[in-house]
Amino acid sequence: LELALELVLQLATASQIPQIHQIDLACQKESSGGFWSEDAYLKECLNPNSCLMCLVSDRQILGFGCLWSVLEEAHIIMLAVLPEYRRQGLGKCLIWGMLRWASQKGLEWATLEVRSSNQVAIALYQSFDFIEIGRRADYYANPSETAVIMWRKGLHKPDFQQALDDWQTQIRINLAKQNYTLTASEQIYQKEGA
Ligand SMILES: CC(C)(COP(=O)(O)OP(=O)(O)OC[C@H]1O[C@@H](n2cnc3c(N)ncnc32)[C@H](O)[C@@H]1OP(=O)(O)O)[C@@H](O)C(=O)NCCC(=O)NCCS
Repeated sequence: LELALELVLQLATASQIPQIHQIDLACQKESSGGFWSEDAYLKECLNPNSCLMCLVSDRQILGFGCLWSVLEEAHIIMLAVLPEYRRQGLGKCLIWGMLRWASQKGLEWATLEVRSSNQVAIALYQSFDFIEIGRRADYYANPSETAVIMWRKGLHKPDFQQALDDWQTQIRINLAKQNYTLTASEQIYQKEGA
């Protein structure tokens, strides 16, 4: 009998920034390339319009994402899961957490850019009903590549709450198969001092 691993979905705190920065470094070759410094991450975690969310198990950060609230828009600007923890549903869990944060903030739609070759990320976003709305040639450097711009509307509509609930159920079932139990309580969405 294996003991279930507790997985905590939470807004990142300052003490977690060094680990988050390490994951950024480990993933930067494949992703859209955040290349943020620790200082930049620290600013994100203190900014009330920024959702820097991470998944923690046994004090180790397994992945993180970052979303900016800009007017009515939720911009997903970062998503990374440690290579050895991929394909377990953690990426989905992070997107779900960020979309829930965005909907609690009253944002109306979500958008992001992704390298056109990043089929894994594109499939992941499509599973949350993101659709392609355009492309930008030569948007990325090293190597130069087209960006696919994706969009998900209706975050403020009542049926989005149902979608969030349905995704949560599915995410928990999938994580349970990997022996994880997810803790993602409402109050974790409050920033310290907020
Ligand atoms: C993109 C990334 C965050 C996905 O993380 P993950 O934890 O492996 O994702 P999940 O396990 O939640 O997978 C969710 C969905 O993504 C898709 N997916 C994930 N890995 C895939 C793979 N190797 N091949 C095809 N589809 C894949 C599937 O649709 C999958 O759903 P399914 O398992 O029900 O079929 C991870 O691959 C990563 O960190 N990549 C490098 C950084 C990056 O590219 N970030 C995105 C920049 S916009």
